[in-house]
Amino acid sequence: MIPIAKPLMGKKEIENVTEVLKSGMLASGEWVKKFEKEFANYIGVKHAIAITSGTVALDSALKVLGIREGDEVIVPDFTFIATANAVLFQNAKPVFADISEKTFNIDPDDIAEKITPKTKAVIGVHLFGHPFNVKVLQEICEDYNLFLIEDSAQAHGAEFDGKKVGNFGIMSCFSFYATKNMTMGEGGMITTGDKEIERKLRLIINHGQSEKYLHTELGYNHRMTNIQAAIGIAQLKKLDMFNNKRIENAEYLSKNIKAKGIIKPEKEKNIKHVYHQYVIRVGKRKELIRYLNDKEIGNAIHYPLPVHLQPLYKKLGYSSEICPVATQLSNEVLSLPVHPALKKEELEYVCETLNNWR
Ligand SMILES: Cc1ncc(COP(=O)(O)O)c(C=O)c1O
Repeated sequence: MIPIAKPLMGKKEIENVTEVLKSGMLASGEWVKKFEKEFANYIGVKHAIAITSGTVALDSALKVLGIREGDEVIVPDFTFIATANAVLFQNAKPVFADISEKTFNIDPDDIAEKITPKTKAVIGVHLFGHPFNVKVLQEICEDYNLFLIEDSAQAHGAEFDGKKVGNFGIMSCFSFYATKNMTMGEGGMITTGDKEIERKLRLIINHGQSEKYLHTELGYNHRMTNIQAAIGIAQLKKLDMFNNKRIENAEYLSKNIKAKGIIKPEKEKNIKHVYHQYVIRVGKRKELIRYLNDKEIGNAIHYPLPVHLQPLYKKLGYSSEICPVATQLSNEVLSLPVHPALKKEELEYVCETLNNWR
């Protein structure tokens, strides 16, 4: 089976982890500080705060902004559920905006429709590695005095107008889950240019501790370990190489898939797409999945339901009538392998197999 995702761990990751294990300094320490510094430099932002996951990054970002019960936060309807759940964690209300058919990203016109006096923030998601329209979202947020948060969980190294994602919101949240463009199994990072926000984040992820055993706020333990950071440091050095391979693979797929009934992904001109996923649209999806499974080609549906139709959100009383584009696309999308471990023969086989479908 050609897998849909494959983490690539090498000698350097093993060497770094071995060094940490031998040192005995396993919890958060110098390796985490080094990883934060190198990640901030890579993104081109002042501060990077390492954390245990992308979900916790989003939760912490909303907490430090003081989002609470009675507030509304606009999120795209088509995303991994953690984006919206981060709003629920604050007892606030996620308000779903529809998406663009072309990029799968949040539709700025629909954001404008969904703003109310209760709206406090917008979370834009750089879905599948394609940056959302940062410029328009920044303008909307400025006009209505809203916080913009980037969910960059799928877009390490992606760019908008030549600048890396992670630079555009008041905070930007990354995930290092096993399938992501760089990984240490689980992990996350928040980037920000704001010193005061950095200070608050460091407090809430470490028991609200301002000095050793002096706790000024209610905080959690969301600290990354040195073991995770040691892998992260090695992965970050390879991120551009991984992303270039993803882009090359995506370009190969786009050039060589000629099967009828398949719509290939598009990209905007002013962006660098890092193809966390290569997502096609297909009418006869079930049939194609059966065929690909038979031919041992890994595939996955990202995502089979728009968030508002998830049972959790139905229970919360969300109407099924909202966000028709997200609803339609969730019936059509299918991700194909695009990860950097793919061999040329495998890519050829994927294209040939697709072109022989039916
Ligand atoms: C868009 C998006 N947001 C948030 C997350 C949550 O990240 P994590 O799995 O690290 O908690 C993910 C991860 O899958 C994601 O894809």
